[in-house]
Amino acid sequence: MRRKPTLGSGTCSHPCSRSGQPYVWGLVVKWDGDVPHPRISVRLPSKRVARVLADLTSAGFLSADHARKLRDTFVAAKPGTDAYLSVDPGTPGAVAIDLPSPDRDVLTTVTGADLDWLGQGQISFAKLRLHGGAPAWSLYRPAVEALPARDKATHTRRVRRYYDELTPVIAETFGATYQAGLYEPASEQYEAKPSTLALARRAGIEDADIEILDLGCGLAGPAIDIAEAHPRVRITGVNLSETQVERARHNVEQAGLADRIDVVQADFHALPFADDQFDAVIAFEALGYAYDLNEVAREAFRVLKSGGTLYAKELVKESVDLNTTAAENLSAHDRTYAMRTPTLAEHRVALERAGFDVVQAHSIDDAVSTEPYQLAMFDLPDGNTPSLFAGRNPTLTAFGRTHFNDHGELPLFFAELLARKPVATQHAVAAGVRLRGNRGSS
Ligand SMILES: C[S@@+](CC[C@H](N)C(=O)[O-])C[C@H]1O[C@@H](n2cnc3c(N)ncnc32)[C@H](O)[C@@H]1O
Repeated sequence: MRRKPTLGSGTCSHPCSRSGQPYVWGLVVKWDGDVPHPRISVRLPSKRVARVLADLTSAGFLSADHARKLRDTFVAAKPGTDAYLSVDPGTPGAVAIDLPSPDRDVLTTVTGADLDWLGQGQISFAKLRLHGGAPAWSLYRPAVEALPARDKATHTRRVRRYYDELTPVIAETFGATYQAGLYEPASEQYEAKPSTLALARRAGIEDADIEILDLGCGLAGPAIDIAEAHPRVRITGVNLSETQVERARHNVEQAGLADRIDVVQADFHALPFADDQFDAVIAFEALGYAYDLNEVAREAFRVLKSGGTLYAKELVKESVDLNTTAAENLSAHDRTYAMRTPTLAEHRVALERAGFDVVQAHSIDDAVSTEPYQLAMFDLPDGNTPSLFAGRNPTLTAFGRTHFNDHGELPLFFAELLARKPVATQHAVAAGVRLRGNRGSS
């Protein structure tokens, strides 16, 4: 009779645990709808996997042939330092090995799979198991894609460089508000101010003694427009770029609003503010620069007062499963702007994970115009539009020379998100429980 493996009471019983490396096996229950799937799982150094497979074989849980196939495929995948091994205690032979952040090229080779369906998406786990005796892979993508730790600094440098270098041309072209889409352009002039004020109304901002935080405040155009229209509000803007911060402060001084608008040089992934400080957080076309939306959402949640709101108007990616052409077009766009455009679903999930109640998360594409932005690329005689130049190359402006890219249709649309930090309940307050976002793994 086949014996089930003896997994010890909480720690692994195989020899590596006696060599000063105790492994904690945990019972993991996964839910598929209403059906629970219990697993016994352990995290262990990849180099120990072969040994554990051998132990499972000698315990009669896995056949020698299956163990060898699993081991060989696993080794060929050039796993990183750690792996997760799980067994279904009720099903002999049911062993799966998870590789965190696998190398995409290696996976393509090992699995022979066409990973194009992942579009630009990164794989957070590859699961290897035997299916009908043959090794089979399942690939998992995170619900919210974030850059691995090693790439965060590089991305941050890229964003900073883009804004440090291009701010003079951006400021000259667009003034103090830099957005690709204006909401409900009120007039043919397509001024930014009516757009910002309409967005502020959608954010629920009204004239009251409130503190607003503007994430990625640019040259403070939106903050100035809101503060002028609402004489009692105070606004703090954060911006990654030193160059932008200097100009934004200058703009605020010029507008005579230095007593109600502060501009702070900071990264919105790590806000230099106390908990529960702001009544509202706004972000206009800024979160697409985040290397990790989860971190930004957690920070926004932390600095908001209970009951406070977050409103974001963002350009978002249509889907994570883009076809190759759409993915390439979007990559070119993101490279030009130093962006990492997420999907609307990723924004939403990041906010929910942080603890927000998401009230709205939908497209506002029909109400947004990119025309002024596109026209700014070309040096046009008054009254002309690019269509009048069909067949001829219109002259590019300084902004156009640095941004024009003749890529096809971009898989993007404009969206808005409104989310609320739940009000702390009496019970939670009495118990001394601080309202916190979910800081668990992403
Ligand atoms: C497209 S501009 C929008 C600016 C402004 N919201 C507006 O409407 O004019 C994006 C802004 O986000 C800022 N930004 C990008 N990444 C950031 C980060 N990690 N922390 C703070 N600001 C950031 C940029 O410096 C830039 O000012």
